[in-house]
Amino acid sequence: MQLCCVWRPGSYPAFVAPKEAEDAWADAAATWDEDPLVQAYAEAALRTLLETCAREDVALADARVLDFGCGTARIGRALAEHGASVVAFDISPAMLDQLRARLPVDGPGAVEAVSVLTPEHVGFDLVVASSALGFVPDLDHSVNDLAGRLKAGGLLVQWDWESAPGDGHGLTRSAITQAYVAAGLDLISLETGFEVEAPDLTMAPLMGVARRPLVDLR
Ligand SMILES: C[S@@+](CC[C@H](N)C(=O)[O-])C[C@H]1O[C@@H](n2cnc3c(N)ncnc32)[C@H](O)[C@@H]1O
Repeated sequence: MQLCCVWRPGSYPAFVAPKEAEDAWADAAATWDEDPLVQAYAEAALRTLLETCAREDVALADARVLDFGCGTARIGRALAEHGASVVAFDISPAMLDQLRARLPVDGPGAVEAVSVLTPEHVGFDLVVASSALGFVPDLDHSVNDLAGRLKAGGLLVQWDWESAPGDGHGLTRSAITQAYVAAGLDLISLETGFEVEAPDLTMAPLMGVARRPLVDLR
């Protein structure tokens, strides 16, 4: 599957999945939201996110949030329950279908499920990427794009499997740090976010937290 980034002059790139592309996540999407591992991961990630928001003074009520690579947006939907207004983006039509089937008709916050990020999707207080940035074709490019969608002072929070150089999956600490620096973000923390024991594995992803500076040199 190829992801192409469409640059519009004077604006941020939009992530667009080509229409003919195969949906690599279609099979997983059908059972994603009910998977106990997905649920345990999302619960742990949400707990660490809420702690981070409290520590970094991000008030979720009325916050604008982007859930990047949202899947069924377990995190985005939970943030909407805290009053945030959430844009949930994914390149997988099947994941977005599953998400739309789970959206409440009303509630304290709103979730907009989108398959394209446009130049209008900017000004976020918080961008979350839960096990998503490890799948993009160009990490530096994607982090740079997401940084541009944050408000000055806004937070980027990501969780990804930690890989050793040459693993071919996951992300290294140095790759994440380099992407933040290249995007002009201030690194707040980069460490194992949580540990959840499952029958055959321990889920212990890296959690990166970075802030778009108040005085922006981008
Ligand atoms: C492991 S799932 C995580 C889903 C969700 N964030 C969660 O924590 O349950 C990875 C998600 O990333 C999405 N994804 C993969 N490549 C992407 C890309 N280049 N841009 C945006 N999303 C992408 C997939 O469609 C899939 O929904």
